[in-house]
Amino acid sequence: MTDNEKKLIQQAEDKVKECESKVESDPHRLTYHLMAPVGLINDPNGWIQWRGTYHMFYQWNPFDTGHGAKFWGHYTSKDLVNWKHEKIALSPSEWYEKNGCYSGSAVDLDGKLTLFYTGNVKDEEGNRESYQCVAQSVDGIHFEKKGPVIAELPEGYTAHFRDPKVWKEQGEWYMVIGAQTKDLKGHALLYRSEDGKSWSFLGPVAGSGVPPLHDFGYMWECPDLFSLEDKKVLIVSPQGLQPEGMHYHNTYQAGYFIGELDLAAPKFHHGAFDELDRGFEFYAPQTTVDEKGRRIMIGWMGVPEQQEDLHPTIENGWIHCLTLPRELKRKGCRLIQVPVDDLEALRSGEVSVEKATVEHQGVTFEGVSGDTLEIEIRDFTNLPAYFEIEFRREARLIYDREARVMTFERKSFANRLTERRQCHLEELRSLRIFLDTSSAELFVNGGEEVFTARYFPGPHEKNIQFSSSEPTSFSLKKWTLGL
Ligand code: FRU
Repeated sequence: MTDNEKKLIQQAEDKVKECESKVESDPHRLTYHLMAPVGLINDPNGWIQWRGTYHMFYQWNPFDTGHGAKFWGHYTSKDLVNWKHEKIALSPSEWYEKNGCYSGSAVDLDGKLTLFYTGNVKDEEGNRESYQCVAQSVDGIHFEKKGPVIAELPEGYTAHFRDPKVWKEQGEWYMVIGAQTKDLKGHALLYRSEDGKSWSFLGPVAGSGVPPLHDFGYMWECPDLFSLEDKKVLIVSPQGLQPEGMHYHNTYQAGYFIGELDLAAPKFHHGAFDELDRGFEFYAPQTTVDEKGRRIMIGWMGVPEQQEDLHPTIENGWIHCLTLPRELKRKGCRLIQVPVDDLEALRSGEVSVEKATVEHQGVTFEGVSGDTLEIEIRDFTNLPAYFEIEFRREARLIYDREARVMTFERKSFANRLTERRQCHLEELRSLRIFLDTSSAELFVNGGEEVFTARYFPGPHEKNIQFSSSEPTSFSLKKWTLGL
């Protein structure tokens, strides 16, 4: 480890100690979601199960609640429920990463846990350079930097060139990278390597202006390309989409294409883009296949430049968190997200109401309240024209059967006015609701639609209430969640 690396890691560790009590005193601190111990967390990175242990790295600015020269923080887990915060994996200590060890992925290469990430470099004038770098570990905890493996920008692209996601297919290594053309179009670029060390550029697999897409954003961040049940899926976070009906209302989006990948061309033949999430905070997700063969996705519960400076937690020295791990499944040309079964280990104190009846506004059920809980609702009889669940007087989920629209509303943490996100929903069949102290993840119809958002209710407000335009009943279960 270089002296500079030692120094940076020491400074970060000191900052954690210095701020610990203030951060931990915040009632909005989450209880079963991954957060940074202090400062800002953004993208999940290097998501992998390696030799039985799940590793989740994350973009981390330990020194501030704004973005900056990122470190890679590191959590490990044996069961996706109990997580251990490990030593810092990467710090921005070298010339090729001095302004941040930016996002990337992990694979097992030659028996070593190998991280591919972007070294971000900026000069005084703000000119950017990007290097795709490697770091390796034999024990999964201590990483040795190998430096850049891709140091040149491909012809026709700007230095917005980052977030390598690596996988092995047909005996070769492949890497997708998020990129921007010189005429400001977002692309996902494909590279190939025989040994994981020397890489050749194959071309864009998909992007803005690459058929069948017309204008589709000025930058694509965090691409992830993988197989799912005989198809290929490309997840990407495009920047620069304009709002369109109920779509694209967050500052930046995260979504996917489904199709077939022609590695020789190279070309991804794909269908339409769809957002992964209908809520307010979801970005830069990353997937991995675990040893049980599940494709598991975790996202950042935040969006870059979306009122980040107005989050109420910044006065306590921290901001943002990651989402729950969700298993991805495919249903035709749609992705389904199901919270991993492992999360059932968080449940206690089951409350079960076989025929929960809601006949008017503001109905509550005994034991069905709290701030860290899971609620499961299914088997509606007489789905009413209007059905609503209000969470802790701060947010509401509303189904309008006539309009076939699902709405999630919350009080804005900028001005306390109500703001909403919506999606089309043919029918409401079931809901699985995960609330943590300041987050909501709402899985509709078995994960066909998901709303993910932060919200900041008063810590003593625990009320969950149901309203409906006509009498309706359903089966209701509730668990307290926590370790
Ligand atoms: C996405 C992103 C990535 C980049 C990282 C920097 O949120 O902008 O493109 O690598 O965050 O923290």
